[in-house]
Amino acid sequence: MIVGLIGFGKVSQNLFKLIKSKDMEFITSFEGRSGETIEAIKKSGIEVLDTFEDVASASDILISATSPKSALDVALKYGKYAKGIYLDLNNISPDTTLEIDKHVSNLVDGAIIGKIDSDNPILYLSGKNSDGLLFLNDFITTKKISDNVGDAARLKLLRSAYTKTLSALLIESHQIAKTCNLEDEFFDALTLTEGNDFKEKSLSRINNTLNSSKRKSEELEEIIDYFDNNDLTMVRAALKKLNR
Ligand SMILES: NC(=O)c1ccc[n+]([C@@H]2O[C@H](COP(=O)([O-])OP(=O)(O)OC[C@H]3O[C@@H](n4cnc5c(N)ncnc54)[C@H](OP(=O)(O)O)[C@@H]3O)[C@@H](O)[C@H]2O)c1
Repeated sequence: MIVGLIGFGKVSQNLFKLIKSKDMEFITSFEGRSGETIEAIKKSGIEVLDTFEDVASASDILISATSPKSALDVALKYGKYAKGIYLDLNNISPDTTLEIDKHVSNLVDGAIIGKIDSDNPILYLSGKNSDGLLFLNDFITTKKISDNVGDAARLKLLRSAYTKTLSALLIESHQIAKTCNLEDEFFDALTLTEGNDFKEKSLSRINNTLNSSKRKSEELEEIIDYFDNNDLTMVRAALKKLNR
């Protein structure tokens, strides 16, 4: 089986590392790529074809892991050459996924949850063709959500709505605890109900959010835009907080 990779960043490199089977061969291309990506491709030893069109035509499974901005363009450009499954792993809105579905046969909507460079991220899949990828569970925990393309993207948004809103609340409570000179006690008291690694996880979440607050705000705006017909009181408050 031939797996084509469009994009060779963190996601593809990790998949290439985790999915090791003598029955599977990975291919990609240098076409139009930056020095950094070319270097990573050379270092990995993956087979390289001249163009992404060649990659798409030769693949039984074509994986797009490029960037949210280029996901639709990539699908429009190369989706038509893919004979087998087209797996989109980009962090895109469910609307973009549905747009891609109009132009690509055999689309599977994919969402990677968890740290991508860890050994145990989880791959969620949705769409009728997901069954054809469940064998990936031998290499990376793989779960099918439903037959509906868009559900994996929706799940990712919902998860993001929860974690980002919680992060905003953590930032606020932690700040007040510090002002009251009760930081350690704040974490100790919450550890009782939230688990032993609560302090470590919270501090990492707080730093992460503060260091990329612009991107997190943009992601919250996307969530608000997509789930506009729902009660988003908490998510809107989190956005207001992050924008300060
Ligand atoms: N990192 C995560 O934790 C994570 C988790 C889940 C989903 N995702 C999604 O997965 C996608 C990839 O993420 P990543 O972390 O692997 O990104 P990354 O490390 O920035 O790598 C992106 C790769 O895609 C290539 N690329 C960009 N535009 C392309 C195009 N038009 N045609 C072909 N290749 C192109 C880049 O090449 P150049 O260097 O030449 O630009 C680079 O090799 C993103 O959409 C992201 O939202 C990421």
